[in-house]
Amino acid sequence: MIARKSIDEVMENARIDEVVADFVNLKRRGSNMIGLCPFHNEKTPSFSVSPSKNIFKCFGCGRGGDSVRFVMEHEGYEYVEAIRYLAEKYGIKLEETKADAETLQAERERETIYKVLDFALAFFKKQLTETEEGQLAGLNYLKERGFRTKTIESFGLGYAPDQSNTLIKEAKKAGFTDEILKRAALMNQHGGDFFRNRVIFPIFNISGKPIAFAGRQMVSSDRGPKYLNSPETEVYLKRKVLYGIYNAKKAIRQEENCYLVEGYTDVLSLFQSGVENVVASSGTALTPDQIRLIRRYTNRITILFDSDPAGIKAAMRGLDLILEENMDVRLALLPEGDDPDSFIRREGLANFQQYMAEQSKDFILFKTQLLLKEAAGDPMRKSALVKDLVETLARIPESIKRSAFITECAHLMKIDEHILVRETNKAITEFIRQKQRGIPRDIAQSEKETQDKIFQEEAKTASASVVGLSELTDAFQERDIIRILLNYGHKEIPDPGFSSLAEYIFASLDEILDDFEHTVYKKIILEYKTMLDESKAISPTHFTNHTDPEIQHLTVELLTTPYEYASWEEHDIPLQIQLHPDENYKLDAHNAILRLKLKVVMQHIAENMNLISKFQEEGNEEDMIIHMRMHNDLIKIREQMTSQFKNVVLKV
Ligand code: GTP
Ligand code: MN
Repeated sequence: MIARKSIDEVMENARIDEVVADFVNLKRRGSNMIGLCPFHNEKTPSFSVSPSKNIFKCFGCGRGGDSVRFVMEHEGYEYVEAIRYLAEKYGIKLEETKADAETLQAERERETIYKVLDFALAFFKKQLTETEEGQLAGLNYLKERGFRTKTIESFGLGYAPDQSNTLIKEAKKAGFTDEILKRAALMNQHGGDFFRNRVIFPIFNISGKPIAFAGRQMVSSDRGPKYLNSPETEVYLKRKVLYGIYNAKKAIRQEENCYLVEGYTDVLSLFQSGVENVVASSGTALTPDQIRLIRRYTNRITILFDSDPAGIKAAMRGLDLILEENMDVRLALLPEGDDPDSFIRREGLANFQQYMAEQSKDFILFKTQLLLKEAAGDPMRKSALVKDLVETLARIPESIKRSAFITECAHLMKIDEHILVRETNKAITEFIRQKQRGIPRDIAQSEKETQDKIFQEEAKTASASVVGLSELTDAFQERDIIRILLNYGHKEIPDPGFSSLAEYIFASLDEILDDFEHTVYKKIILEYKTMLDESKAISPTHFTNHTDPEIQHLTVELLTTPYEYASWEEHDIPLQIQLHPDENYKLDAHNAILRLKLKVVMQHIAENMNLISKFQEEGNEEDMIIHMRMHNDLIKIREQMTSQFKNVVLKV
């Protein structure tokens, strides 16, 4: 354990501008410094460093924090690793608190395991490039498969000779004990080399240390498996590891996307062809730990499938988990007979990228279409399919995203949206119950009440966006804007372009004012605008004393409940930096407008999908294709909007 006072010393010495400057080119801008954000791809700088507050903040992607946070995010370090990094940078000697003898011993052993794995890595590499056997058998095999020297080096590929204990002998000569070799999984039960006569793919952890190996046979034979993997050890927990993550992390962040493939050679091949944001789950289903690993760098993941139906179904099983982690999941099916390796070798980078742009689909639509194909013409199977789909929909944590998907799925499956909303809501309740199993009853009870409340709000949101037209209860996006307008419209905002919040709201709403559906809200907003245009002083009493009783009633209600938690708390904005809406009305307005625009886009999507079905039924292919294109454009717009919700940051 690092002593508290050492940590404090690091924190006192670390200067955010110096820490960041090692990675980002910063320019002075007033009292702050700005640069291109290292966490997302951008052309104009929105990454800001405040030396006086000793923090960084990106106004594009929302990341922010102190020096430790920066190093953790940038290097993928854990907290302690980040402290060690900073201590080294500032020449601070860390004082370790006296751990008991046992802990110290365990730590030393762990270090030794890492050392022997490092030793093995160097050994395998040397065998591959410097011995005749390795060159003839291993290197030739890799070259024949088209892997270039640079790729072989970047991924640390090696060769395990066809003898029973070459590595073991050398490791012992270097002072490693049997026990350590066993614990590193380099020794088999008979005391010999674990890997024999295989090309070696080292598996690195996120900071680039080898933690395990996979060995591939060079000629297929009946003896032994094609790939042999190290079993789990103290330093190799399969569920926490992704093959290729160390090489890929920089590109994942830059591309804001992570490709997930199945095999080691798929990773190598894509990387070598220029697709560097790629990792493999190595034959196992994706785990939540692995997803979180990816999420350190991006929340978009694109999964590449070989077009083998059994494989797809198996892989789909894990996917609900990814949705639960609030990841944006896309899927792409490769042409029949291809895996990513063979595809990119034949087609090259440009075609790969084009294929991905055209073929990758968001997960739920992919699943819907897949299931639909299966259930074609069989009503029993269709109802089973709805159940399956609803399970998936229920796992999307964000209500806005969820209701957008519900709209699309309902259209694809030609079922009533209300039914899908209702079924999904049921599944959510069930899902929450399941999660509560095992929690003591009284806690579960109060937890349940809170959940129920949240859930009711969510249900409202979901049906609001789906129904849209249901006037009285559910035009919550419109109501929210009116609420902000009435409460804060007269306030000044820091933006010099507008003299009041109301001006800002109307400037942003310009193109969709006519889309207001709720008659009373529409009346209020148009009247407000007229008065603003005529530069009349607008006081809320104008509306609370209105001659139209409906307007009067509504405005009183909106002015007495100045904000609704449900409408702003569900963003990903951590509450501690979120101001009370009274002090934060610009952000509040921005969000509300975004929501309304999103709703309008979703209605366009729904209408457009109706047209697609109609043209399809009429056999009018030409119009159908035109509207499918429109559909794709609309989906892109919708995605941009939903991603903005995550990127909303505080600008005070
Ligand atoms: P190449 O045949 O060398 O191109 O590898 P590949 O990755 O295309 O192999 P495949 O598609 O057959 O398998 C995908 C992944 O599943 C591999 O990368 C391995 O992680 C895993 N795998 C395949 N075969 C075996 C095996 O026999 N044993 C184990 N443990 N894993 C395997
Ligand atoms: Mn392959």
